[in-house]
Formats: sequence, structure tokens, C-alpha cells
Amino acid sequence: MDEILGRVMTVAGSQMTVNLEGDYGHQGSLGIVAMIKVHSADREVVATISAVHCESNSLPERILIADLLGEIVSSGEGPLRFRRGVTHHPISGAPVVGATDADLTIIFAPPSHSNVRIGTLYHDASQPAFVLVNELLRSHFTVLGTTGSGKSCAVSLLLSAILADHPMAHVIVIDPHNEYTRAFGKAAEVINVDNLQLPFWLFDFEEAVGILVRGGTAQEQEAQAIILKDAITRARRPLRRREPRCGNPERGYADTVSGIRSGSFHLRGDG
Ligand SMILES: Nc1ncnc2c1ncn2[C@@H]1O[C@H](COP(=O)(O)OP(=O)(O)OP(=O)(O)O)[C@@H](O)[C@H]1O
Ligand SMILES: [Mg+2]
Repeated sequence: MDEILGRVMTVAGSQMTVNLEGDYGHQGSLGIVAMIKVHSADREVVATISAVHCESNSLPERILIADLLGEIVSSGEGPLRFRRGVTHHPISGAPVVGATDADLTIIFAPPSHSNVRIGTLYHDASQPAFVLVNELLRSHFTVLGTTGSGKSCAVSLLLSAILADHPMAHVIVIDPHNEYTRAFGKAAEVINVDNLQLPFWLFDFEEAVGILVRGGTAQEQEAQAIILKDAITRARRPLRRREPRCGNPERGYADTVSGIRSGSFHLRGDG
């Protein structure tokens, strides 16, 4: 039988506090992010330790604060499985034990949905860690962490894992600090200021003058600019007749900036 680490004191919302018994508070196995479990009704409620502290009243007490994560439930005749969220909260006084390797295997079992492996668990390197690709990409997500904590490496790893598993996927990375160019090798088509090719119709008149009118005196440049303006207007006129107008009557679709290639690079999964 699992050794009792302590007993539930309070349960509020998604957290519970546990009064530790014995010397467990000094053991590495009860550090932050370690997992504990409590039997509740016909299931095991699993929680991760988020804080450990000592309260000194008449007798010093070591207290764990744990975030309730989910439940290990049996599905009829089928195997035990883990599901997120708690439906049966533990009661005060219930014994708390550490999660076993078998529990971790159930909790971090490879999901049945589309997934990629991105590494192993921080607190148990023998357990693989997966992300659900569709769930991840279906909505917005952010990678957060302090400076130097590994955000860029995590993003590279995540994208590489997704591309390895989905060879036909296409990813556009907007990379203003040029830190991902080397991360993807031949899988990436890198577009930067040296190789970016823009069609002339993308530029407005002032930009076209800046690029094409060169040399000569100020008067000569002014004359060239007038000729250029006339030439651009004539060149664009037939295009504007063919294409539907945008909101700005002065601009047809030919002027629309597709800009997505600007300052970005494009990853091919089959590269
Ligand atoms: N899982 C990891 N284990 C060990 N070292 C790592 C891990 N992930 C990243 N590193 C190392 O940590 C350092 C910082 O990584 P990274 O550049 O990804 O951090 P960052 O959070 O993006 O930093 P910044 O906030 O400066 O952008 C690098 O030297 C990297 O090799
Ligand atoms: Mg970074």
C-alpha cells in the first residue's frame, strides 16, 4: 500500500492544502511540480504541488499547496485512464500519497488524437511528453517564460516536431530578429532583405521615384519623375479597368500588398 504523505486540510476551487506527516517535507520527491493523489469516491484525484511552506502555531506544520489536475478513473471493463478536471473533490482528512510510476504512465499516456512527442517530463525523464497538434493549432497560444528560459528553443522544437509528423504542413515564421534561420536547415525557405523580390507595382509613386530616378541635377530628376508618373499611370490604367476596385478608388487590387512574405520565412515540411 502507498505510504501516506499527509492529509487533506482544505479544498477550495482548483487547489487543496495538505498537512504533511513525518519528514516528507524534506524529501526531493515532494518538490514543486511533483504529483500527488487522493482517493475520492471511486477515483484517484491527481494534483501537482505548487508550493510548500511551514506554519508555526503551537507546533510547526509543513503545508503543501497543490493544484488539482484531474482524475484517474476506470472506464468499465477498460483500462484506467486519466482525464483533466475534477468532478469529485477530495474531502478534508483524506490520506494523500505520491503518484506512482504507473500513475504517471496513465496520466501522460500518448493521446489517441493527432500528437507529436516534444521531449520528456521535467520531473520524470522516463515519461515522454506529447502535444495535441490539432488542439494546439486550433486556437491562439503563447509560449511564456523568463529571459533565457528556453522559449525560442521550445518553439523550434515544436515546429520541427509538427513538420516531421506532418510533411505537407506549411508554416510561416515572422522572425524580425533572425534567430530561427539556422534552426530548420533545408526545410526553410528564408526570405530576407537580400533575396526578397518585390514587383514594381507594389510601390507607390514616391517609392518608385526613389528607386528609379537616379543621378542628374534636381531639375533633371524632376523631369524624370514627371515622365515616370505618366508612364506608371498609363501602365496601370488597363489593369484597373480589368480588376474590381478596392475601398480606395485610387487603388486597384494590383496595388494590394500581399506583404505576408515580407520579413518572414516559409517552412516546407518536405524540405
Ligand atoms: N530544455 C532545455 N534544456 C537545457 N537547456 C536549454 C533548454 N532549452 C533551451 N536551453 C538553452 O537555454 C538557452 C536559452 O534558450 P532560448 O534562447 O531558447 O531562451 P529564450 O527564452 O528564447 O531567451 P530570450 O528570452 O533571450 O529570447 C540556450 O543556450 C539553450 O541552448
Ligand atoms: Mg528567445
